[in-house]
Amino acid sequence: MEAEHDVLVVGAGCAGMRAAIEAHDAGADVALISKIHPVRSHSGAAEGGINAALGNASEDDPEKHAFDTVKGSDYLGDQDAIQVLCDEAPDDVYQLENWGAVFSRTEDGRIAQRPFGAAGEPRTAYAADITGHVLVHVLYEQVLKRELKVYEEFFVWKLAVDDDRCQGVIAWNLIDGGLTSIGAKTVIIATGGAGRLYTGTTNAYACTGDGMTMALRAGVALEDMEMMQFHPTTLAPTGVLITEGTRGEGAFLLNSEGDRFLKRYAPNAMELASRDVISRAEQTEIDEGRGVDGNVMLDMRHLGAEKILERLHGTRELAMTFAGVDPIYEPIPVRPGAHYHMGGVDTDVWGRTSLAGLYAAGECACVSVHGANRLGGNALMETITFGKRSGAHAADWALTHTTIEVPPSLETDAQRELEELLDRDEGERPWSIRNELAETMHENFGVFRREDEMRKQGEIVGSLRERYDRVVVEDKGLVFNNDLTQALELGFLLDLADCMVVSGLARKESRGAHARPYDYPDRDDENYMRHTIVTWQDGAPNLEWKPVTMTKWQPMERTY
Ligand code: FUM
Repeated sequence: MEAEHDVLVVGAGCAGMRAAIEAHDAGADVALISKIHPVRSHSGAAEGGINAALGNASEDDPEKHAFDTVKGSDYLGDQDAIQVLCDEAPDDVYQLENWGAVFSRTEDGRIAQRPFGAAGEPRTAYAADITGHVLVHVLYEQVLKRELKVYEEFFVWKLAVDDDRCQGVIAWNLIDGGLTSIGAKTVIIATGGAGRLYTGTTNAYACTGDGMTMALRAGVALEDMEMMQFHPTTLAPTGVLITEGTRGEGAFLLNSEGDRFLKRYAPNAMELASRDVISRAEQTEIDEGRGVDGNVMLDMRHLGAEKILERLHGTRELAMTFAGVDPIYEPIPVRPGAHYHMGGVDTDVWGRTSLAGLYAAGECACVSVHGANRLGGNALMETITFGKRSGAHAADWALTHTTIEVPPSLETDAQRELEELLDRDEGERPWSIRNELAETMHENFGVFRREDEMRKQGEIVGSLRERYDRVVVEDKGLVFNNDLTQALELGFLLDLADCMVVSGLARKESRGAHARPYDYPDRDDENYMRHTIVTWQDGAPNLEWKPVTMTKWQPMERTY
């Protein structure tokens, strides 16, 4: 074993760093381990802001935030968890401010808040349109200040489970090569989402669902895996995120006829309806021939150069760099793209999983505060609040337990598995399978879902899995062997795709991101106001259900 810690955090984005800081401040010896440098984490791509009922732009309070979130979730979010998020959010944001987060300001110097989709009040605190970038840097400063150990560029491949406890990880050292095990009394997974399951995605190359699959393979359940959110404004052709903040500042969505089509889908909220509603509206316009080369147009010309340069300068740069369009003068082509997994590792409100010693926080976790549809700005907030809570609990648990045992056989078995893969000289390259998986997920498990297409996707994933068994890693080297890590990532993605398809087929209704307009067009609270739960048994997903926790909000029709 290379080292031991009280708390080991896997992933160093906002959730991971916030967890590590809290665990350290509670007195634990903490380390972070990440396949990329912390400030390159995908949290840095979050643009538009972070939701907390600060009440700086209107009369607001956590209760209103909670109701918007429950309604936004299409009543699949757990109301106790949502209440925790919304109650703790304001203090957690002020903590970030005290650490130096440079939020945009009101005239009188308070944190500015902008309107965001499906929020009853302007509640999204922001740093222009680079909020995630700012938060990642602030948290990294706090990590440095505390001199926390960071295992940078270590690819965590397996959880080390012994005596029914998670007691560390087995990781591949990307810089020098070689497997290593690191022991820990508690492990917090904070590895983000799995948007790379899709071709059109806002997610970074690193978002391959590593933590979710590792937990699954260790016997922990995944919850609501069918709930993949499509963000309505991703840039054509790359899938780069164009922030909801553009619409928060007043941008319009137009079809090929120059029509603000949302008046037919969400006449009150228009461009600030919830993401599932807007993505479906866009896809309908495109499918019915009112798109522009497979896109709709995001028009912000009327906002004027001054506002765009002050609040949306990052968006302008992205549009100019990746689509050759300057939004001061022209509308931007956008379309729905895979953005965020509402599902993930089943946890309680302290990030605890069913496996002793294992926690999860951030996008890889399903607490569940987002249910079937996440509100923009709630993801960054979740990383902070539930990162903090999992760090506190994991530290507490670690400080009351003494032993760490990672049996050498775990590393030897992993070594043998790796050698088998590396010794193979002939076979298919991982990228062709990865591309096919992403393209077919987009086709068959996208904004709208059909029974026959989901079934077909299940078969496709099965055949990709057979091909994956014969995959060849051509690079046999030790230093930065991306060929190897991409092959391992593909294994993670295939397991998750299976879980998504099984969960999607089982949910015979339309709710939030899971839209089945052709066979089950309505929400069915009587039969399906419950979470899908998937565990891995005998090499395949096994589906069960779990009730939604309701406190005071009864399900109502959701209109925007
Ligand atoms: O549109 C955005 O800025 C994304 C924010 C989010 O997903 O929370």
